[in-house]
Order: sequence, then structure tokens, then C-alpha cells
Amino acid sequence: MQKILQEAIDNNRHWTAHGAVASYIPELAKENPDALGVCIYNIDNTTLCAGDSHTKFTIQSVSKVVTLICALMDKGKETVFSSVGMEPSADPFNSMVKLETRESHKPLNPFINAGAIVCTSMVQGDNGIEKFNRIHNMIKIMADNPAIDINQSVYRSEKLTGNTNRAIAYYLKGAGLIEKDVEDVLDTYFKLCSIEITALDVAKMASVIANNGITPWSNERLMSIEICRIVKAIMTTCGLYDSSGQFSVDVGLPSKSGVGGCIMAVAPQNMGIAVIGPALDSHGNSMAGKKVLEYLANELNLSIF
Ligand code: DON
Repeated sequence: MQKILQEAIDNNRHWTAHGAVASYIPELAKENPDALGVCIYNIDNTTLCAGDSHTKFTIQSVSKVVTLICALMDKGKETVFSSVGMEPSADPFNSMVKLETRESHKPLNPFINAGAIVCTSMVQGDNGIEKFNRIHNMIKIMADNPAIDINQSVYRSEKLTGNTNRAIAYYLKGAGLIEKDVEDVLDTYFKLCSIEITALDVAKMASVIANNGITPWSNERLMSIEICRIVKAIMTTCGLYDSSGQFSVDVGLPSKSGVGGCIMAVAPQNMGIAVIGPALDSHGNSMAGKKVLEYLANELNLSIF
């Protein structure tokens, strides 16, 4: 298996040259475009890593998985999906075009920015700090790593340049889909994107979902089987934005990408996988990371389809 992981990196490293690091947030432009790493956390508690797996990166939109989990735990399925849809958007992650054209103004799903901002506002907490702590704690518990924290430079950069997210959030507030202070919710969203993490952390988080909500290392139930089922379904249909369909054909695993270059993938009842490769394709997904996952899915026969 270690040999397959190493081959996945070696055979696909050249794809890093076909992508580019995110530059719309200036701090992200400083990431190493050549980095490529992978970690697997098996539910039998064995770990395998290859390539630049120790690279630290910001979690970015992979945090949207945990935000959705917390919103579902705190408010329940009916309430969450009364304000956010569960359909693929076929638009870029930060698009707002369908907010206005759809009659309900509801964001199409929890993984586009608009949907994640609404879910952030629904998480338990009287203010942004409490909501952030709730999701941050869940990330630390799911990754079994209490040291996980914000990268302050990325946070400042997100906040300074996050004008599209501001436009989205104010529109949602106007549509009555955000309950509390809109700037507070945005600040929480920016902080969540800026959480610094490693591939092993993300692989362990994915292993909890693969193990139907139970931590493989301590046998503790963190969320219900139903929440895992919902999250895996939305990861499959919406996790890679407007290339989720192609990714399902090529890889076939419930997954979630982030512009920091991480893709979290869940192989149900089997393993959590995380790839890191900051050079992105035009949809904001790791260029070489997708290829590494495709290689592993083929070699290890992982596709759920
Ligand atoms: O909302 C943003 O602009 C980012 N901080 C997070 C977006 C993201 O990771 C999209 N994923 N591919």
C-alpha cells in the first residue's frame, strides 16, 4: 500500500505545473505550487502518508463540512434545509447569481460560500466567537489534535479582501436568511477558512465520517449515522463545486475541496484520505490532488459507484 501511495505522488507530481495557487487572497499566493502530499487514515487506526504530507495549509472550504455537521447537530435537518438547499449549483463556489433568480433566495447547497455562510449563522452560539469555538472544537476533536489553530496572516488577508463574501452575506441578510449580526457571521466564516491544518489532520477527520460518526481511535460517537449519510451525499453531489460530476466519474468518493489545495475524501467503512497540492484548476480544486485521488481510487478499487 505504501508503494501505491508513493506511485500516486510520483506519477502525478507533474500535474502541479498545470495549476496555479489561489491569488485572490494575497496570503494564499505565497503557498508552494510544487507541493504534493497525501495521507490515509484507515479505520483500523493505521496511517500511511507520502510526498509533502507535512506541509501546513489552511483548511479553507473543507471547513464547510464541519460547519454543516455542527449546524445539523445544533438545529436539525428540517431547520437547516429550510434555509439552505441540497442541490448542486453548477456555478463557481463564490457565485451569487442564483441567490437572486431563485424565488426562495435560498443558497443551493451548504458547500457554496452562500450556503456555508447561512450554515455558520445557524451553529449554536450567541455570537461569532461562540459559533467559531463550536466549529473549531469539532475540528480539533475530529482530527484528534488540540493544537489546531488559526493562521493569523491568512485570516487578516481573508478579512481584508473578502468583499465578494461580504456582498453574499449582506444579500442573505436582506433575504432574511441570516439571523444575527452579519459582520459577526462573516468574521466567523473568515476565521474558519483560515484554520491551519495538515493532511494527517484532515485524513483523521474524514475517517470519522467513513466510520459513520465514531472516532476510530477512541470509539467515541461524535455525530449520528444520519448526519454522516447527509454529509457524504452532499459531498458527492456538491463537494467539488461545478466539477463535482466529473470528479464523481473519475474518483467516485464523497469529497470536499478547498482553495488552500486540500481535498478531503471519504472511503465509507474503510478510510479517510487527504491530499494537499496548492496548485489549483480553474474551479478552485487541487489540480494534482484530484489526479492522486483518481490514481488511488483505481488502484485500491475505492469508488462507491
Ligand atoms: O470564501 C473564500 O473565498 C475562501 N476563503 C474559501 C473558498 C474555498 O476554499 C473554495 N474552495 N474551493
